[in-house]
Amino acid sequence: MKKRVYSGIRATGRLHLGNYLGAVKGMLALQDEYECIFSVVDLHTITVPYDPSTLQNSIREIIIDYLAVGLDPKKCHLEIQSKVPQHTELAYFLSTIYPVSRLEDLPTYKDKKAQYPKYVNMGLLYYPVLMAADVLLYKGELVPVGIDQEPHLEVMREIARKFNSMFGPVFPQPQRFKTEGEYIPSLLGSGKMSKSVEGSYINLTDNSEEIRKKIRSVPTATTSGGEMTEGTKVLFKLLEFFAKDKTAQFMKEYDDGTLQFVKLKDYLADAIFAHLKPIQGKRQEFLENPKLVDEIIKDGISKCTVMAEETMRQVRQKMGFVGK
Ligand code: TYM
Repeated sequence: MKKRVYSGIRATGRLHLGNYLGAVKGMLALQDEYECIFSVVDLHTITVPYDPSTLQNSIREIIIDYLAVGLDPKKCHLEIQSKVPQHTELAYFLSTIYPVSRLEDLPTYKDKKAQYPKYVNMGLLYYPVLMAADVLLYKGELVPVGIDQEPHLEVMREIARKFNSMFGPVFPQPQRFKTEGEYIPSLLGSGKMSKSVEGSYINLTDNSEEIRKKIRSVPTATTSGGEMTEGTKVLFKLLEFFAKDKTAQFMKEYDDGTLQFVKLKDYLADAIFAHLKPIQGKRQEFLENPKLVDEIIKDGISKCTVMAEETMRQVRQKMGFVGK
């Protein structure tokens, strides 16, 4: 049997370069070789303030982004988490074997608490348990995600080990599949690129003008040479992904103190747009064919439900929920 891969993205807006380089590139690299499930994790989306009236549209936008970047429904299953209710069933079972104190200590929980002090809810604390259930439901062994998700992977493995030792072997120990873009910094020059920080990201759907404007506003020094500012590091990091062959030349100019930042920025912006343009073209094709998208979603969910139910039968049996 092929190894299983699982990953998911929240429906909080369009995909940005951080999601793309940190997670989606990994998904693309794995879809040829493994049995893959790539999800829109809508239940994770609602742990922070959100708008119910736009949720369905946001979910669909992520599915269309997935298809546009080249995730191929012939090679992988596309899932919407809430449409496979076994996720929440398994999450509840797993929550009964994991200590609250470990969840309270997680850096991701602390960050969200600080970000939304008036929205500290049970779902937020429960987030890593549901995430563990997502992957374990399919017995996923590889998880292509950014480095920020490593603490959640730790929890997942702990839960899997604990379940196996308490009830018998059912789950593997999922590992993170590392990508070159596992940490993409913010365009603002501090922290990571993030949907929740305005000005920090470039969306895959941005046009050339938007990209140029955003890249031009990355803070740099007035002169080049010497210790690099955080903003300059961001530019060089993105160059590595989108214009690798030019990096050495720009770096030399930087070291010589002759670099004109605006030249580097415009070159980079054009290179990013050249990379995104075909993706945007494919996106348009899927937007114009909603029936095809509906079929892909329906097919993904039905295949995932079969796999999910298989695991749940084992879990219910091991945990004593099946009568004689
Ligand atoms: P989300 O939507 O916050 O992020 C989606 C993916 O994008 C990656 N990412 C980044 N990678 C590199 N640099 C960045 N600046 C950057 N910003 C975001 C994240 O690491 C992630 O891979 N908790 C998950 C959603 C989830 C999930 C799962 C993932 C729920 N259940 C099961 C895998 C398996 C998340 O952070 O989503």
